[in-house]
Amino acid sequence: MAKKQRMIVVGNWKLNPPTLKEAESIFTGIKNGIKDIDVKVVICPPFVYLNELRGLFTKEKIFLGSQDISSESKGAFTGEISAEMLKNVGATYTIIGHSERRAKGETDADVAKKVAVALKAGLTTIVCIGEKERDERGSYLGFLKEQIVGSLKGVPRKFASNIIIAYEPVWAIGKGKEAVTAHDLHQMTIFIRKHLIDIYNTAAASEISIIYGGSVDEENAELLIADGEVDGLLVGRESLNPENFVKIVKVVEK
Ligand code: PGA
Repeated sequence: MAKKQRMIVVGNWKLNPPTLKEAESIFTGIKNGIKDIDVKVVICPPFVYLNELRGLFTKEKIFLGSQDISSESKGAFTGEISAEMLKNVGATYTIIGHSERRAKGETDADVAKKVAVALKAGLTTIVCIGEKERDERGSYLGFLKEQIVGSLKGVPRKFASNIIIAYEPVWAIGKGKEAVTAHDLHQMTIFIRKHLIDIYNTAAASEISIIYGGSVDEENAELLIADGEVDGLLVGRESLNPENFVKIVKVVEK
């Protein structure tokens, strides 16, 4: 595990919910449910809800993040949203390189550029990595190594404490009961940490949190945290259900 950091649970709402009213209701449900819990909770709604949602809380208990950012800071880039703009509407975190963005053509080089921009702007950056499938000969490990190295290329060591690696095997995302096993997850956290040490050094790598995402629910969360040796979880589907999401946060706190 990373050096004495608070556990973190990130909710990735993806392209949901369809209305601001629903977004406010889910957010309020989560906010009220985690009041006395000592876990960092980060909600990543669609961009358009960020500013409204930040009006719903005052204390530093729940944080907001975006699901992506532009690698550009300003200018003629139609449809893009910069790190600075996101900070201005309340985001302190960002997810970068989610497999659903990579599936739309985002490369490791694109990811690395965005990661550097986000960190420079002061956003804590959740960098997603994960293999599409596994094979018995372990060639997915080579793929992952390349993804880790490529996604952090040129990202200075001084930002280590603001980097979070989210291991999200693509085959486990949105699959209900098919999360990785805690045993396999533990192996992956060691594998990822080793490569972070190779890229930076032992001290810097120990500042980087490693979290898991892919079909997390209140039933598998306990084992994933206890035996998977991760510093937190990235939750998709279940983060849209306040009751279930709060249950996951409570399990992580234990
Ligand atoms: P899931 O999504 O929890 O619905 O599997 C996780 C993610 O894509 O971040």
